[in-house]
Amino acid sequence: VTGPTDKRVAVVTGGGGGIGSAIGARFSAMGWTVVLVDVDGEALAKKAEQLEAGPGAIVTMTADVSDAASVLALAERVIGDIGVPHLLCNNAGVTAYGYRTWEAPPSTWQWLWSVNVMGVVHGISAFLPAMLEAGRGHIVNTSSVAGLASVPWVAAYSATKHAVVALSESLRYELAEMGSPVRVSVLCPGLVTTGMARSSRLWPAQLGDPSALGPQADPYMARLAEARAGGTPAADVALAVERAVANDVFLILTDEDSAAQARVKRAGIFEPADEPTEYF
Ligand SMILES: NC(=O)c1ccc[n+]([C@@H]2O[C@H](COP(=O)([O-])OP(=O)(O)OC[C@H]3O[C@@H](n4cnc5c(N)ncnc54)[C@H](O)[C@@H]3O)[C@@H](O)[C@H]2O)c1
Repeated sequence: VTGPTDKRVAVVTGGGGGIGSAIGARFSAMGWTVVLVDVDGEALAKKAEQLEAGPGAIVTMTADVSDAASVLALAERVIGDIGVPHLLCNNAGVTAYGYRTWEAPPSTWQWLWSVNVMGVVHGISAFLPAMLEAGRGHIVNTSSVAGLASVPWVAAYSATKHAVVALSESLRYELAEMGSPVRVSVLCPGLVTTGMARSSRLWPAQLGDPSALGPQADPYMARLAEARAGGTPAADVALAVERAVANDVFLILTDEDSAAQARVKRAGIFEPADEPTEYF
């Protein structure tokens, strides 16, 4: 695609991964022009090759969402070459696990915060002004059920995902206060069958020795793998996103089990008790 398109435009970060590419496939099947964005150019190219463009078009662009300048350059390119997005999915995310809260090195917290939280903030800051000016659009920020309820061994990840819920709520109230037609949703999937457990491959060299995986990473992953067998397919998450955008739903949940768990745990904070340890 070169030059502004008359089709609807979706920008999806983390588009080289499971959930992002599924969202891309869904909207492209509906005739949208989809810009898939990822820091991992190879994964991105592979995914784009596998995707059926459908009646829409798939465009790929590399950017690092943790880097404000990189996301600003992306926004300039998208808006100049394709158009102001109708849908922005701030979806790129990484995970680290297997540490007790006090044992995770600062670099682990830093990496997760820079991608999972600042990546969302950078996306909003770079694209929202043009969406406000256009007087339309929808932003979907990817959090997790781990953004609604916390479990042991993943404090840093869970903290970043809680932050995404919090900033999405603030943004929603701000847009409502302005009477803006731009909408915001927060996507809180339960377990989804994707390659996210392999995100430690993206550990940035400038943070020093990799510390995405803590001493309890293997047992944690074994439990996760067991639970993941019943995980939601990424295509179902994409369908939930499509419906939420069509019906202006703020909180997007993807499966009943994890939604019920999150509800109980979130309510439980008001009546603290020594709950048995539940991992997911
Ligand atoms: N898989 C799950 O069970 C699950 C559950 C809840 C929430 N999530 C969230 O869903 C989102 C997508 O994850 P997924 O499961 O598809 O994992 P995934 O690893 O398949 O996809 C994530 C993609 O983000 C990209 N990425 C990582 N750092 C980036 C950066 N700095 N800039 C740009 N791109 C970057 C990766 O290269 C990868 O392609 C994440 O935010 C994740 O936290 C996943």
